[in-house]
Amino acid sequence: MQGPHRIVRAGSSYVGWEAIDDAGRVRGFILDQPEQPGRGRAGDWIADTPQVLTALYTEAADAWTRAGYWTHECVFPTGHTAERALLSLGFGHQQAYGKIPVQRPRADRSSDVQIRRGADLDALLPRVPLIAKQQEQSPVFSPRSSQFFDELEEGFREWAAGDDVVIFAHQASRTDRPAGYVALELTQNGPEIALMAVDPNRRGQGIGSALLIEAHRWASARQYTQIRVDWRTANIQAEAFWFRAGAQSTSSDGVVPSMVIRAERGDGGRPICTH
Ligand SMILES: CC(C)(COP(=O)(O)OP(=O)(O)OC[C@H]1O[C@@H](n2cnc3c(N)ncnc32)[C@H](O)[C@@H]1OP(=O)(O)O)[C@@H](O)C(=O)NCCC(=O)NCCS
Repeated sequence: MQGPHRIVRAGSSYVGWEAIDDAGRVRGFILDQPEQPGRGRAGDWIADTPQVLTALYTEAADAWTRAGYWTHECVFPTGHTAERALLSLGFGHQQAYGKIPVQRPRADRSSDVQIRRGADLDALLPRVPLIAKQQEQSPVFSPRSSQFFDELEEGFREWAAGDDVVIFAHQASRTDRPAGYVALELTQNGPEIALMAVDPNRRGQGIGSALLIEAHRWASARQYTQIRVDWRTANIQAEAFWFRAGAQSTSSDGVVPSMVIRAERGDGGRPICTH
C-alpha cells in the first residue's frame, strides 16, 4: 500500500514485516512466529497508527494466505486504537456507504483528457473485471468464481444499456482503449456511483479524480446535491479515494464474508494475531 511508510519483510533479527517511515524509523511491525500446536501460526504486532496496522496486515495477510492460512483471528483490547482499522479490515463490518456533496465543477476541462459519455461498451469490457480483481487481493480477500467472470461481460452490457445508467470513460483519443471509467446509476435515492475503475498501471495519476469531476458536472447540471457511493471497507485504495473525494460515511454493515475472519475482544494485554 502507498502511504507515509513502506513495508519491508524483516529477517535479520526476527521474521516478520516492518513499517518504515521516510526518516527510516520503524513505525510498527508484525512478527511472523512459527506454527503453534492447535493455533496455526501466531504473531504479535505493534503499530503506532491504525493506518500503519492496515498496511502491515495487507502485506502479512497476503503472505499468510499464499501459505494456506485462511483463518485470521485477532485479539485486541476493547477500545484499542486499532479497533476501527481491524473492524474495517473485515474483522467486523465489510461494506461502507457514503455520500459526496455535489460540487459545481469549473467550466474548463484539461485538454489532454478526453472524457466521453456513453462510451463504446466493447472498448470498456477489458476494464469491467478490475473491481472484482482488486477485491480478490489482500486485504479484501473476496475471490470470485470463474462463472462470475464468465457472466460479467454479458451482465455489464445488459445493465449498462439501461436508460438509468450513465458512463464516462477516460481515454487519450476516441480509438484508444479507456484507461478508466465511472458508471453512475440514477436510482430513486438519486445518483449512485455503481462502478469505477482505473487500469492498475495508470492509478495514482489523477484519472479517477478526472472521472469524478465529470460525475459532479453531470449531477450538478441536474440539480442533484449528493452522489451516493459504497465500497468494501478493506479496499484500502477505494476507501482512501472516496474519503479524499469528500465522501461522508453514512453507515456500514456486515455482509457474509467469503472467507472466515473472526475478531475476539480481550480485556487487556497486547493484541495477538493468530493465522
Ligand atoms: C479507486 C480508483 C478508481 C482511484 O483511481 P485513481 O486514478 O488511482 O485515483 P487518483 O489518482 O485520481 O487519486 C485521487 C486521490 O485518491 C487517493 N488515493 C488513490 N489511490 C490511493 C492509494 N493507493 N493509497 C492512498 N490514497 C490513494 C489519494 O488521496 C489521491 O490523491 P493524491 O494523489 O493527490 O494524494 C483506483 O484505485 C481503482 O481503479 N481501484 C480498483 C477498482 C476499485 O476498487 N474501484 C472502486 C470500487 S468502490
